[in-house]
Amino acid sequence: MVILGIETSCDETAAAILTNNQKRITILSNIVASSASLQAKYGGIIPEQAAREQIKAIIPVIEESLRQAKLSPNGLDAIAVTYGPGLIGSLLVGVETAKTLALVWNKPLIPINHLIGHFYANWIADATPKFPCIGLLVSGGHTDLVLFTDHGKYKYLGGTRDDAAGECFDKCARLLGLSYPGGPEISKLAQKGDPEAFNLPRPMIDSKDLEFSFSGLKTAVANIVHSGQVTGDSKKHLAASIETAIIDVLVDKTIRAAKIHKVKNIMIAGGVAANQKLASQFQLTINNEQLSIKLHIPPPNLCTDNAAMIAAAAFFINQPVDPLNLQADPNLTL
Ligand code: KG4
Ligand code: ZN
Repeated sequence: MVILGIETSCDETAAAILTNNQKRITILSNIVASSASLQAKYGGIIPEQAAREQIKAIIPVIEESLRQAKLSPNGLDAIAVTYGPGLIGSLLVGVETAKTLALVWNKPLIPINHLIGHFYANWIADATPKFPCIGLLVSGGHTDLVLFTDHGKYKYLGGTRDDAAGECFDKCARLLGLSYPGGPEISKLAQKGDPEAFNLPRPMIDSKDLEFSFSGLKTAVANIVHSGQVTGDSKKHLAASIETAIIDVLVDKTIRAAKIHKVKNIMIAGGVAANQKLASQFQLTINNEQLSIKLHIPPPNLCTDNAAMIAAAAFFINQPVDPLNLQADPNLTL
């Protein structure tokens, strides 16, 4: 089977073509056009502007995905599209394009929840997750722990009560005068910093539940910045301290979820999963505690928003709908 995935939930316009013809899911093409550098000028996303950029990019991006996969539309078996959650203007561009192409090309149309889609980046690999599996979604808008018992079968275990982990990276980066998106910027600066230089809070790390909170961490960083302590080298030390504080909480709660539910597979997904220190800290904790847990993290380009994960999800959640009935849903949840 060959699936074209389309993803336009935020400021990335993405199309990818994947096949499961061999023993594994393989990427034939994976195109991502981002308006992040445009948005960076304003320190964050302006929804109206993101939607306009989506409209400009969507057809060239889909054409390029077909060209790189060396396929005509005849070679496709289905179209998968993100239908929520996200910015409504951005979502509409992908959803309406996918509906039109499904009707004109006469292909089944498979709607995919963006949040679930992120997890399926873990199935574009030789070693794929085994159920039951704890999933940690860490993106710009989400920090969620989920227990998966099968494809499409999952239970929400807990999430953030305020800011998401990615949002915390972005807001702290802004306080440090770094550009958007903040996660990669903080991470780069943190490489040469001392993570113990600033004593930052690890919100809710000792709470027995599987909930998170990151707004207090951001406030602590704001107080440090506004007190004038951040000059010269101390900026990189603060960046390292922020990164480590966020990672400590994510690793601790996720490992706790795996222990509570006695699972041997953990999968991480979403933009923050591209963070290399998060990956190494997870593996270090698993090794130190001698846990028999297999950790799954997609390669960085499949952690941030992309359409390959949307097409990958459609191989497992293959529930086509009538294109005329599909509606974008900006508030869709897990
Ligand atoms: O999944 P994603 O691309 O978009 C959403 O669905 O939200 O996630 C974007 C988020 C941003 O907050 C960005 O700062 C963060 O992921 N991010 C990172 C890294 N790369 C992206 N955070 C920490 N370290 C990174 N290397
Ligand atoms: Zn996302």
